[in-house]
Amino acid sequence: MESFIPETLHAFLPNVIQLFYLGAIILFILGLKRLSSPATARSGNRLASLGMLVGVVVTLLDREIISFEYILAGIVIGSLIGAVVAKKVEMTSMPELVALFNGFGGIASALVALGAWFRMTDAVLPVADLLIMGLSVLIGGVTFTGSLIAFGKLNGMLKGNAVIFPAQNVLNIVLLGVAVAATGWLVAQPLEVAPVLIVSGIAVLLGVLFVIRIGGADMPVVISLLNSLSGVAASFAGFVIDNNLLIVSGALVGAAGLILTNIMCKSMNRSLTSVLFARFGGSGAASAAGDTGDKSIREVHAADVAVMTAYAKRVVVVPGYGLAVAQAQHVIREVADLLQKKGVDVRYGIHPVAGRMPGHMNVLLAEANVPYSQLYDMEEINEEFPITDVVLVIGANDVVNPQAKTNPGSPIYGMPVLDVEEAKHVVVFKRSMNPGYAGIENDLFYNENTYMYFGDAKGTIEDLIRAVKEL
Ligand code: TAP
Repeated sequence: MESFIPETLHAFLPNVIQLFYLGAIILFILGLKRLSSPATARSGNRLASLGMLVGVVVTLLDREIISFEYILAGIVIGSLIGAVVAKKVEMTSMPELVALFNGFGGIASALVALGAWFRMTDAVLPVADLLIMGLSVLIGGVTFTGSLIAFGKLNGMLKGNAVIFPAQNVLNIVLLGVAVAATGWLVAQPLEVAPVLIVSGIAVLLGVLFVIRIGGADMPVVISLLNSLSGVAASFAGFVIDNNLLIVSGALVGAAGLILTNIMCKSMNRSLTSVLFARFGGSGAASAAGDTGDKSIREVHAADVAVMTAYAKRVVVVPGYGLAVAQAQHVIREVADLLQKKGVDVRYGIHPVAGRMPGHMNVLLAEANVPYSQLYDMEEINEEFPITDVVLVIGANDVVNPQAKTNPGSPIYGMPVLDVEEAKHVVVFKRSMNPGYAGIENDLFYNENTYMYFGDAKGTIEDLIRAVKEL
């Protein structure tokens, strides 16, 4: 393929390319930095996208390895699929999409490494490159199938609970050992097909085996870990094809994913090893959903909640996944505005794993222009509940389940939760007595000071708005 670059510039080209790569890397870093605050996140996203555009264009001009027709066809087809998916995807399905992205990132890195292996004939790569090639295939393959399983669990195609069988950890560790040994074989005999097949086969199997055993409240941790792994695989692929931009951007994704994994582990009060190798919760003797015994609930309607909240001093809104399903962020903001006009102090208590992706609630509330100053994280708001008159739990369930503190047999035991029951009154907005993501009963609903307000959150909140206005 002919180069677009004039002959006279060819000598400077490598340096110019590296300079552009450096520029792209700086844009990625600035973008990531700005993503750390909701106020600057949008501009951060734009900066990082610009960095990606620079990276793609410069790489296309630099490499003359494949015909531009194929690349253009790939870009057009990929962009079309991306645009349709981005338009169609519901906010609540975003985590599944992220899981798929992680998986595709993993398989792309594994394929790049495999491609480099296929192109290798007599000119065998140095030992370090061969080692990294094997690791890239291994990590990329694990990320691919692990992410597909996570995707299936999140969108309900697969059951969300952990699939555990005897000697599972031993099997996983043995398989990992065989894959590492096969990587050694690949380094010793680079032109042999067998080690490449073994590493690739075990990688895709391990991804499935690692992720099926993780379930319930541990899923947020595993998704951020897979995100990190997709970055590590990309970085390794960058070493294989000697591309600095891929090395650094992969490392950034790997590090950012690892930091997020660490934050998630802390939020769930878990260590990474216990997420990967132990079952969440203890004996599994949690009260199953529906096992309500002879406990009773107190049901309320819009007029009751209007009186409770309008005459309160302090109201805390606790949003959860159901708020996202109902798209009730705008109407709950309207309630808050009405109450604030009446002199009520309204705050929002955000649990770090409420919803289905990190920052899910922050994104929703930002969409409704809820001021950031009214958002309180779990530690801050937990101190406030004893002096709160009414807590409005909107489509949240697991993150307010006291079983996490009281029942050592519960699958969520040990996960820090919002202590809403310490407020004077708690109103739970949901459609039924069905459980949340972890599939377990919630003792909160049967407390003396808890009131259930049934219905789709958007509809019930609209009724509440009318009732408050009528007071
Ligand atoms: P959940 O425990 O999943 O509970 C959501 C509740 O919303 C359900 O009980 C459901 O009850 C209700 N709901 C659903 N649609 C509704 C609607 N249209 N109107 C009103 N209510 C509705 O949510 P949560 O408290 O936010 O906890 C999050 C859970 O997801 C945790 O277990 C967490 O570990 C897990 N998870 C989190 C993440 C991240 S990173 N955030 C990722 C994966 C998994 P009804 O069906 O009765 O309405």
